Amino acid sequence: MCGIFGYIGKRKALSIIFKGLKKLEYRGYDSAGIAVLLDHKIHIKKSVGNIDALADKFNNTKDNSIISKATLGIGHTRWATHGNVTVNNAHPHVDYKKNFSIVHNGAIDNYNELKHDMQQNEYKFYSQTDSEVIVNLINQYYNGDFFYSVQQTLLHINGSYAIGVLCKQDNNKIICARKDSPLIIGIGNEENFLASDISALLPYTNKMIFLENGDIAELYVNNVILKKLNGQQKTLNICDISNNINNISSNKKKYKHFMLKEIYEQQYTIKQTYEKLLDTHDSILQICYNIKKIYILACGTAYYAGLVSKFWFEQFTNIPTEVNIASEFIYSNAIINQNTLIIVISQSGETADTLSALRFIKRKKCTSIAVCNTFKSNISLEATYVMYTYCGLEIGVASTKAFTGQLIALFIFALNLGLRRKQLTDIQHKEYLKELLQIADKVKIILGNTINIKKIARIFARKKSVLYLGRYINYPIALEGALKLKEIAYIHAEGCATGEIKHGTLALIDRTIPVIVIATNGITYKKTLLNIEEIKARNGFVIALQNETNNVLIKRIGFTIYVPETIELLSPILNVVPLQLIAYYTATFLKHNVDQPRNLAKSVTVE
Ligand code: AGP
Repeated sequence: MCGIFGYIGKRKALSIIFKGLKKLEYRGYDSAGIAVLLDHKIHIKKSVGNIDALADKFNNTKDNSIISKATLGIGHTRWATHGNVTVNNAHPHVDYKKNFSIVHNGAIDNYNELKHDMQQNEYKFYSQTDSEVIVNLINQYYNGDFFYSVQQTLLHINGSYAIGVLCKQDNNKIICARKDSPLIIGIGNEENFLASDISALLPYTNKMIFLENGDIAELYVNNVILKKLNGQQKTLNICDISNNINNISSNKKKYKHFMLKEIYEQQYTIKQTYEKLLDTHDSILQICYNIKKIYILACGTAYYAGLVSKFWFEQFTNIPTEVNIASEFIYSNAIINQNTLIIVISQSGETADTLSALRFIKRKKCTSIAVCNTFKSNISLEATYVMYTYCGLEIGVASTKAFTGQLIALFIFALNLGLRRKQLTDIQHKEYLKELLQIADKVKIILGNTINIKKIARIFARKKSVLYLGRYINYPIALEGALKLKEIAYIHAEGCATGEIKHGTLALIDRTIPVIVIATNGITYKKTLLNIEEIKARNGFVIALQNETNNVLIKRIGFTIYVPETIELLSPILNVVPLQLIAYYTATFLKHNVDQPRNLAKSVTVE
C-alpha cells in the first residue's frame, strides 16, 4: 500500500521520479504527488487520481520549467488509510513552516496523541493523515541537524513506516528510513535512489541495499551513509540482484493489461517455479521430520492456495494440517510447540495480517516457512526458512500467476516431505512428479482456447450475481474463482462447496443466476453430476468445467469449458485458469480498470 520513490543525482529528478512512480502505481493509485528541492525551496505538486493525472497537473503549471531543473526529489502514490482521497491528504506532506517534506508508506499508531500535543504548541495541520504528524515532528526536533531531527522523530513514533524526507536547509541529501514497510536504496553512478520495490530501481541499477527494520540512511549524490536508529554507523551491504531476479519482465508487452499478461505467463512461471524448487533444501526437510501438526496462515488468494495444499500435506505426509485466515489466527488458542510447523504464504511478503500472525507464532519458538514471491520482503526475512516462488513481479492487483506458483511450491514441498517421512514410496513420488511436470503444457492448452470463456464473460457482464461450486480439492478453487470476479468485475459472487448448496444456497437458484460447477474427473465426479441435476431441476443455468473424456454433460448444460485431464490432486492448478480468464474478460467487457480495481491495492500493509 502506497509506493515511495526518491532520487538524488545529476540528472533531472522529475522525469525519473515519474517513471519510478509509474512502476509503483500498482501499490496504490488513488492520488499521487512529487516534491523537489531547488535553491532551498521545496516545490510540491499533488493530484487526485493516478500518475497520469499527476503528469497532467505538472504539464499545466506555470512553474513546470523551473521545477524540472531540480536534481533531487521524492514522490508518492497513495492508497488511502488515514483520511479520504483528496489533494490535501495526498503526499508529499510539508510541516506547517514548510521546512521539510515527507513521503510515507505505513501507518503511525500514536499520531493522534502527537498531533494533539503539537496543536497545543501552535502547530497547524492541513490534512487528516498520520504522515503530516511525522513531518511536523521533524520540524519540531530540528536544531540545524537534519539527521538528528529525523532520528528523534522516529524514536517517538509507533507504527510502520518507509519514509523519504527533504530538508529545505540541507539541499544535498535525502534521508530515508524504514520499519515494517519495504524500502530499498538503489546505488547508481553519481546518483542514488530509494524505492518501495526493486522494479522501480531496475531501469537504473542492479546494486541495491535492502534496508532493515530500524535503518536510517542519508543519500547524497556520491555517497550513502547507513545507520541504526541509535546513530551507530552500519557497513553498506550492497547486493547485486542480477542473480536474484528472473526473466519474467515487469512490462506489459503486447498485453492490454498486466493481469492478462500474468495469466498467460503461468505457462512459464509454473515451469520456472518447479525447476527451482524440485529439490527442497535438505535442512528444511530435516527440521520438518518430527513435525506433528502444520498450520498454514495466509490471506485472500494465498489463503486459498493454503486450503488446496492441506489435502496434499495430509495425503503425502500424514501430518494433520489446519489452514487459517492470518488475521483471525492471532485470536486462536492453537497449541503451538516445537513439533508444530507454520507455513505462511504471501505473494508480496508484506501483508500486515500475515506478518503479524507470523510474529505472533514466532514467540512460541516453532519452525516457520514462508512461501513468498518477493525477494527479501519482511515475511521472507522473518520466517525461519523461505521458499521463493519464481513468478516475477506480479503487478495486477488480482493475484493469478502468484497463486499457481504457490500451489507448485506447496505441492513439491508436501511431496518431498512425504518421501522423507517415508509416507510415499520412491515410485509414488516419481509418478506425482511426472504428472506435475506436464501441468505447464496443459495450462498452455487452456490459454489457447478462450472462445467459450469470452462468451461466458459476456453473459456474466450482465449479471448481478454468480455462484461458483467445487468439491474436495476444488472447493478452494470455487472460492478463488468467486474472489476474482468480485475483485475486478465488481459482481457479487459466492464460492460454495457443491455438496453444501442443498443446505441453503439452492434457494437462490433460478434462470437468472449462473452457476459455474467444477466437474472435472475424480472421486467427486459422480456426486457432482447429481448436484448439477439438482440445479437443472430448478431451472438453474449451469456452466461446467470438465475433461473431454466426460462429455456426457455437454448437451444438457448451458456451457462447457474443457480443461485437459490430470490427476485430481493437481486439477486445481488447471481449473483455476479458466476462472481467472472469465473474471478478466467480464471486467474488460464492463470496461473496468482491471489492473487497479476500485478500493483495493496490491500489498495490504495495514491490519
Ligand atoms: C487476490 O487477488 C488479492 N488481491 C488478495 O486476496 C491477496 O491474495 C491477499 O491480499 C494476500 O496478498 P499476499 O499474497 O501478498 O500476502
